[in-house]
Amino acid sequence: MRRHLIVGNWKMYKTAAEAAAYVRRLAGLVRQSAKVEIVLAPPFTALSVAALPIARRFVFAAQDLHWEDEGAYTGEISAPMLTTLGCRYVILGHSERRRLFGEDDAAVNKKVLAALRHGLRPILCIGESLAERQRGQTTRVVLRQLQKGLHGIPNEAGRHLVIAYEPVWAIGTGQAAAPKQIDAVHRTIRACVARKWGRVAAGRLRILYGGSVKPDNIIDFLGTAEIDGALVGSACLDPKSFARIITQTQSAKQ
Ligand code: 13P
Repeated sequence: MRRHLIVGNWKMYKTAAEAAAYVRRLAGLVRQSAKVEIVLAPPFTALSVAALPIARRFVFAAQDLHWEDEGAYTGEISAPMLTTLGCRYVILGHSERRRLFGEDDAAVNKKVLAALRHGLRPILCIGESLAERQRGQTTRVVLRQLQKGLHGIPNEAGRHLVIAYEPVWAIGTGQAAAPKQIDAVHRTIRACVARKWGRVAAGRLRILYGGSVKPDNIIDFLGTAEIDGALVGSACLDPKSFARIITQTQSAKQ
């Protein structure tokens, strides 16, 4: 049985003070449950909230990292810097990084390897654009991002990995993908991982869906056995709305 995972990607929102207020509020709204792991991904400048005693019930993720441990890379943040702040996960290869900051599959792969080297669990984001879907290239694009992103990763590291399928056309548009569409892509991803690392590893892999997930539609996704949770953008920014997503996930059948 795979434990559900709900990740809130705050993107470039909230100061450190706002983050602390958010964490206090969210802690008052949700209880912990063994069924669902709750992960918060604030911007780098607000990751210090992970050290607050109240934040202990949550797990923290960064939104990116640089693949080197240290060096002359102005503006960059490395994996050891994140682990010492208390991060356990890191979102990598988000479509906004790929599209707006020119990250290619090779760079994403170096980041995945760096994360694993330091015990950070990568949440590898993959997904096709609208034009690619319309051209019938969804499978090809997703498999390319997956295979290149995971290149050179040893079998045993596979169990630390999370994949997030985020079709670019569903992000921030209010147009979530249909559970059937997601199910088909998740099966493709799991089959690819099974070929690479075997069926046991593939069966353990958690595959999240991301793209316009809201309190009103989360339950539709969780009814699909292939969907192990969600990567939530705008609907995680308000603690009340994120708490509704979490509590619905906690009460969903697995
Ligand atoms: P939205 O939930 O705002 O569509 O964003 C999804 C996302 O990009 C999460 O990483």
